[in-house]
Amino acid sequence: APDRAPDRIGIFDSGIGGLSVLRAVRAHLPTATLTYIADSRHTPWGERSAAWVSARCLQLAGWLIGDGCDLVLVACNTATTQAIAALRTRWPGQHFVGVEPGIKPAVAASRNHRVAVMATTGTLRSPRLQQLVQAHVGRAQVLQLPCPGLAEAIEASGDHPTALAARLDQISAALRASGADTVVLGCTHYPLVAAALQQRLGAGITLIDTAEAVARRVHSLLGGSTTSTTRAPTNATPGSLRLYSTA
Ligand code: DGL
Repeated sequence: APDRAPDRIGIFDSGIGGLSVLRAVRAHLPTATLTYIADSRHTPWGERSAAWVSARCLQLAGWLIGDGCDLVLVACNTATTQAIAALRTRWPGQHFVGVEPGIKPAVAASRNHRVAVMATTGTLRSPRLQQLVQAHVGRAQVLQLPCPGLAEAIEASGDHPTALAARLDQISAALRASGADTVVLGCTHYPLVAAALQQRLGAGITLIDTAEAVARRVHSLLGGSTTSTTRAPTNATPGSLRLYSTA
């Protein structure tokens, strides 16, 4: 194929959570030029106001767009549910992809029609999340479980592994008590502890992460074929990755 400039994708999150999405994007678009911003100075975002989150997302997206990104991936459920509309209004011609809790696939996967959604307070109180529940709940029960402190504990787990373990114990107990057989990981930090959660919940509970679907969406918006799931031309130059933190 004639040389085409590599796709430039900008990705941001409040911290390291978006790396769970970045991983899937890299697998689908191995030749892309990726720029990731972790807003570590302001993490976590989950308890902040929608107005604050919107203003912060406008700043971070503005930086990535100014840097030449073809597509901005909002790798954060809190930011997507509260701010992606503001980004689309501010930059109408720009590609944006967001991450939203996988309520639809969870309802489809549940055998006992009980689904639990783990997310931040900001995500769960957003009108967008309530719309998603209304659209896909069907005859299922959807328990909304705010997990304040969990993203923060994941950020800090290098220094404080026991605090994270204690928070995971509490949340797993609440999830087991809910009777849900399917649990939505509605914050991009949570897939980073999926193995630890699964171990506490047991094999009978299915965890739902939307990173794969998001990566396919990014791929198709950038002109990737929809039939092959990965693009790895043998003669292509490898992609690149720049990681930034605001702290
Ligand atoms: N990773 C984020 C999300 O998907 C935000 C977590 C936080 O900063 O509270 O919701």
